[in-house]
Amino acid sequence: MQSANRSATTQTDASVVEARDVTMRFGGLTAVGGMSIALRRGEILGLIGPNGAGKTTLFNLLAGSLKPTAGAIRLGGADISHEGPERRIARGLGRTFQIPRPFSEMTVLENVLTGGQAQAGEQIWSNFLRPGRVAAQETAAVDKARALLDFVTLSALEGEPARVLSGGQRKLLELARVLMADPDILLLDEPAAGVNPTLLEFIIARVMDLNASGKSILLIEHNMDVVARLCSRVVVMAAGKHLAEGAPAAVARDPAVIEAYLGDVA
Ligand SMILES: Nc1ncnc2c1ncn2[C@@H]1O[C@H](COP(=O)(O)OP(=O)(O)O)[C@@H](O)[C@H]1O
Ligand SMILES: [Mg+2]
Repeated sequence: MQSANRSATTQTDASVVEARDVTMRFGGLTAVGGMSIALRRGEILGLIGPNGAGKTTLFNLLAGSLKPTAGAIRLGGADISHEGPERRIARGLGRTFQIPRPFSEMTVLENVLTGGQAQAGEQIWSNFLRPGRVAAQETAAVDKARALLDFVTLSALEGEPARVLSGGQRKLLELARVLMADPDILLLDEPAAGVNPTLLEFIIARVMDLNASGKSILLIEHNMDVVARLCSRVVVMAAGKHLAEGAPAAVARDPAVIEAYLGDVA
C-alpha cells in the first residue's frame, strides 16, 4: 500500500546512522551476530547490555575501525560499509573511545587539535600554494580547540602534557577531541564510567547541551539512572544481538533483560 510504503521510507530517512543485520566474527568468536540498530535524527539513544555483549564492537563497526563480516552500515541513507574511519569523520560521524588514550607527551591543547586533522593542513598542494591560508586555518583551529577546552572546563590545563590528567579529565579531553571535527552524530562509549559524582553531573549536562545544539547521540552507558535521565529510548544488546528496545523504565523491568544481566553476574 502507498501509505505503508511512505511510512517505512520516512522511518529510514529519519535515521542518521544505522547498522543493518551486521555480524562481526573474530576467528571462532561472534562478537556481534546479526545486530540492527538505527539512531534517529535529534535523539539520544541509549545502548546497554552486559559486559562482552558486543557494544564497543558495534561502535567500531559504525565508526569504520572494523569492517563487518556481514551486513551493512548506512549513514544518511547511503551505504558506507566500505568507507574508512576518516571518511566517516568527514561525513560528520564522531566517536569517543571507552578507554581514552591521549598522546601522553603532547599537551592537552595539542591533543584536542588532533581531532580536527581531517579539516586543516591535510591538503598538501594547497599547503604549498597557499601557506598564509594554512596559517589562518591553524589559528582558527587553535581558537576552536580553546573554546572546546572551555566547554569541558580543561582550559587551565591546556599547556600541560596529557599524562598529568586524571581518568575523569581524560574523558573530558576525549569529548573535546571528538568535537573538533564538528560531528552531527556522536557515538559516546561510556563517557561517564568511573568518574566522580560531581563530574558525572557535569558530563550529563554537557551531553544534554550537545543534543540541544542539534547533535544526534548514541550513548553506551551502564548506569540506568543516567540512561533514564538522558534517553527516551534504549536498545539492549546481549551476546551480540538485539535483545530488547523501548523506554528505559520498560526495558529495565523486561524479564529477558533482567535475565541477560543475571547471566552476566553468574
Ligand atoms: N579485536 C578483538 N579480537 C577478538 N575478540 C574481540 C575483539 N574485540 C572484542 N572482542 C570480543 O568480543 C566480545 C564483545 O566485546 P565488546 O564489543 O568489547 O563488548 P562490550 O563493549 O559490550 O563490553 C567480547 O567477547 C570480546 O572479548
Ligand atoms: Mg565496551
